[in-house]
Amino acid sequence: MISEEQMQSALSADLQAILRCLNCSSRLTTDNAGGYVCPACKRAYPNVNGIARFVDAQHYAASFGFQWHRYQKTQLDHDQVRESDMNFRWKTALRPEELKGKLVLDVGCGMGRFAEVATNWGARVVGIDLSAAAEVAAKNLAARDFVAFQADVFSLPFAPESFDVIYSVGVLHHTPDCEAAVKTLDKYLKPGGILAVWLYSGYNKWYRFSDFWRRYTSRMKPETLHSILKVAVPVLYNTQQILKKVPLVGRPAAGLVHHVFPVNRQKTAEQRTLDTFDWYSPKYQSKHTYEQVFRWYEAMGMEDMHIGEFSIAVRGRKPLRAK
Ligand SMILES: C[S@@+](CC[C@H](N)C(=O)[O-])C[C@H]1O[C@@H](n2cnc3c(N)ncnc32)[C@H](O)[C@@H]1O
Repeated sequence: MISEEQMQSALSADLQAILRCLNCSSRLTTDNAGGYVCPACKRAYPNVNGIARFVDAQHYAASFGFQWHRYQKTQLDHDQVRESDMNFRWKTALRPEELKGKLVLDVGCGMGRFAEVATNWGARVVGIDLSAAAEVAAKNLAARDFVAFQADVFSLPFAPESFDVIYSVGVLHHTPDCEAAVKTLDKYLKPGGILAVWLYSGYNKWYRFSDFWRRYTSRMKPETLHSILKVAVPVLYNTQQILKKVPLVGRPAAGLVHHVFPVNRQKTAEQRTLDTFDWYSPKYQSKHTYEQVFRWYEAMGMEDMHIGEFSIAVRGRKPLRAK
């Protein structure tokens, strides 16, 4: 049984027209239970817990499923805090007038913080995520012009040239092949549409020690790693704060602790634990340069390229006519 709220988040007819079978690329029809079925090959995409599933499991992204169920609303904006709005601008270089009234794909939507911003700007947003985070996004944004699917960026259930804008923030470097993931999105963009991606920067060498620890932490069960970090993050953060007050040697010593055991330094304890977990848990985490990403965009034939405020943020436009 799915609830009325869940049924309300079913795609409207025009959105349903862009859904395609992963098997045979035929149009999908609804199964009357909030899921989809292919009339040609009969493959089913059931609705489980309020969203249609286009993957059979979370695969390597289970840590994100855990993370976004544990921290469902921590990063959502509210009256006093506009951080997701600000981050969205910095990491995509998109402007509200470019999204208003547009059909937008959020690739790796997580719990939906950036889709919320995009809907605030007047976009109709389809969010996909490989993990069970898609469930959280669907619940968080139930009252908005938003629909979430559990799906893989490498196998998307959409017709070519469906979206006016596609963005992906902090996601594609967590796939086994970031370049292939970026390039696969071109197919789903309408001519004249915008593709904006934000990836981890390869310029910052402070990452090196965390790369060493991640070899071990990414193999832990998410629950175990989270229990360790709930203790370790406050201890390491507070140690740095205390050390900084010691005259002369204090600051270099705090820097050394941060270098060897990097933990997030955001304002609240909850944000610090969330972002440190996000840093140490993923199986895949690649870093990139502007040179690389510009080459990928050029290979796709993108034009009108811009960078955002926060490295590595690149946006470009698909040409109106193939050259
Ligand atoms: C760091 S989170 C970012 C979530 C969101 N974009 C944000 O910034 O709040 C990365 C997300 O990418 C998703 N992801 C990883 N690999 C993916 C794939 N192959 N297809 C779709 N989503 C993927 C994860 O499940 C996770 O929710």
